[in-house]
Amino acid sequence: MSKVVIIMWKPDRSSTQTLYHQIADEIERRISYGEYPPGSLLPSERKLAEQLGVNRSTVILAYEELRALGIIESRTGSGTRVCKNKWEATPKHTPNWHRYVEGGQFLPNLFYLRRIREALQKDGMIDFASGELSAQLSPGQEISTLMKENPFTEYLGYDNPQGFTPLREELVSYLSRYRQIKTTDSSILITSGSQQSLYLITQCLLAPGDAVAIEDPSYCYSLPMFQSAGLRLFRLPVSPEGIDPEDIRSLYKKNRIKMIFLNPTFQNPTGICLNPARRTQLLNVASELGLPIVEDDPFSLTSYDGDPPAPLKSHDQLGSVLYIGSFSKIAASGLRVGWMVAPHSVVERLADARQQMDFGLSVVPQKIAAQFLHSNFFLPHLEQLRMRLLYRRDLLVEALQTELPDLVTFTLPQGGLHLWCKIVPEINDNQLFEEALRRGVVVAPGSVYGSDSGYIRFTFARPKEAEITLGVAKFASALRAVLS
Ligand SMILES: Cc1ncc(COP(=O)(O)O)c(C=O)c1O
Repeated sequence: MSKVVIIMWKPDRSSTQTLYHQIADEIERRISYGEYPPGSLLPSERKLAEQLGVNRSTVILAYEELRALGIIESRTGSGTRVCKNKWEATPKHTPNWHRYVEGGQFLPNLFYLRRIREALQKDGMIDFASGELSAQLSPGQEISTLMKENPFTEYLGYDNPQGFTPLREELVSYLSRYRQIKTTDSSILITSGSQQSLYLITQCLLAPGDAVAIEDPSYCYSLPMFQSAGLRLFRLPVSPEGIDPEDIRSLYKKNRIKMIFLNPTFQNPTGICLNPARRTQLLNVASELGLPIVEDDPFSLTSYDGDPPAPLKSHDQLGSVLYIGSFSKIAASGLRVGWMVAPHSVVERLADARQQMDFGLSVVPQKIAAQFLHSNFFLPHLEQLRMRLLYRRDLLVEALQTELPDLVTFTLPQGGLHLWCKIVPEINDNQLFEEALRRGVVVAPGSVYGSDSGYIRFTFARPKEAEITLGVAKFASALRAVLS
């Protein structure tokens, strides 16, 4: 019987590399140095897990990786061995995919976002974490009626990368009617959600090393895309009135910031609106310093009283504001229709980048969006959406007040999909997150948005209405368990 190789080594738990990658790398290295020759028998998964002090599932992943690379093979009855073929005279080498996967410039998603995605694969979880509308709040019925009434006849070739002209024309009236923004179709770029506008701006208008200001907390912290682009991030604290424009002046002096990213209306995650006086002051400071502002405005039309503050863009005399809108939070995130209103030179530059990236968004969702905006369904849908969101917000608030009267505080949002909740006693975020998961509830910890520990973002648009009260009861039981 062959002897099992001995692995005298321990993974480094403080390393940023995952444990299973470390194990796979180490075994591969030792095999290539000849320490474990072809045919040698490796320890069983259970034995190796014991030796290394890790879970068996971690060793299973490491072995899977090495098997996929053709470095080891496992046979029932004869265990896991170093492959013979791989090291013959004319070996066929499988590329080492995990080196490639780790080598790219685009950083992986944040730990909690990956954990949330994984948790939501399980049936029956109550989802307070996904920042989108539930099926009940989306206009599925209306869109399907429109599609039946208007068969698709458009030519399905590569379209203008700037976006489908009928949608851009529709957006000109939409922006004027609902957001007091006067523009033309040549100043609009259609993107795959607002997310792509943010991506294009970070990639095409900024360079590695550039400093930018973002709100604190901010949705932007949930996007490693800013770090992937090599940008240096500076914080603008959000108070109940929004950010303080004077902070921009000092950031500019100290750090030469080049751009400001804001979500001034029903901000994600806090739900706060930048107050009108500060909006004026902000535009003045930005124009004095010649600084562009990215106004990310996906939530304004969810305003529960139907009267959101006017966007910065509607007062932008100098063309300093790049305005981003989206269909995601008012209709359907899966259509992936977003838009940017910007000076023509910017639109042209970004449309050129779109052509290189993906030749522009598919015409199909663009046509659906154009029809929906044009139809008599749009306004009643918005009114219904606002009413249902307000109802859900109140359900959530009532449940939190009943279940956790002294343990949480929050400010009531007047629009948007989120409630930003502070847990009063000091708490370990990770324990609370995992304890809630065990009880079937998924929440987004505040650290995802760059905040200190002890905050939770509850999205009340995503779970079913009937799940909200139950979800809070389960969350409350998780919180009590952590505190005790
Ligand atoms: C403030 C903000 N901006 C942009 C996005 C991206 O949305 P989408 O790409 O679906 O339009 C989100 C999504 O949650 C958001 O909250």
